[in-house]
Amino acid sequence: MPASPLRLGVNVDHVATLRNARGGTMPDPVRAAKVAIAAGADGITAHLREDRRHIRDADVERLMREIDRPLNFEMAATDEMLGIALRLKPHAACLVPEKRQERTTEGGLDIVGGREHLAPVIRQLGEAGIRVSLFVEPEVHVMDAARALGAPVVELHTGTYCEAVIAGDRDRIRIELARLARAAEHGGALGLEIHAGHGLTVESVGPVAALPQVRELNIGHALMAEALFDGLAASIRAMRAAMEAGRPGRAA
Ligand code: PXP
Repeated sequence: MPASPLRLGVNVDHVATLRNARGGTMPDPVRAAKVAIAAGADGITAHLREDRRHIRDADVERLMREIDRPLNFEMAATDEMLGIALRLKPHAACLVPEKRQERTTEGGLDIVGGREHLAPVIRQLGEAGIRVSLFVEPEVHVMDAARALGAPVVELHTGTYCEAVIAGDRDRIRIELARLARAAEHGGALGLEIHAGHGLTVESVGPVAALPQVRELNIGHALMAEALFDGLAASIRAMRAAMEAGRPGRAA
């Protein structure tokens, strides 16, 4: 039987990281989202963090207005973010843990300990027609807890697996892939839609894409990192041409 299609959600956070490092408007994460869609992305993901270190409120508003594919709004389960999600009504909201000092989302949500806090957020998002996913560690008991909370989707954190791939640690890769496979199988059997992401690269994506229950991957950092090298030569050539064109006495 052919596998079901696998969607790609492109995370544009780090286009905004680069913009904010300099100030101003360049590079524009909404333009990046449009390029991603033109190149075959099925959706766009953006994480509005409490400290607005990359994506800002205006970026999310523009993504909602200007892109014609689903927006997956990554958010902490805070009153502020809930208010923004309920006002903008993105296609999907992915609830993530957020720590002020972390460089990136370090682990999955504590949905066992955080149950009381998460349940009303999941309910309100769901009632507003927003598809809720929970970013979680790939553990069987976590799938049970996600099901009990009534979220339709879980996104399995692939970070530990990806670190093992970077380290070239074959035993660890095997263990982490088995953990992902078990969680995907169990979650799928419970009726959860399974997504995965964090740290995925061209080198590490294959075995995760092979898991039959996985329906969507959300990928950002590696795409933006590679895009620099894929695009650098072209942007240098364009600058050279503009310099030559501006130089008096030189052919354009
Ligand atoms: N999924 C979630 C829930 C995330 O928090 C992130 C990182 O923002 C990603 C996917 C994408 O991870 P990466 O940028 O490492 O591809």
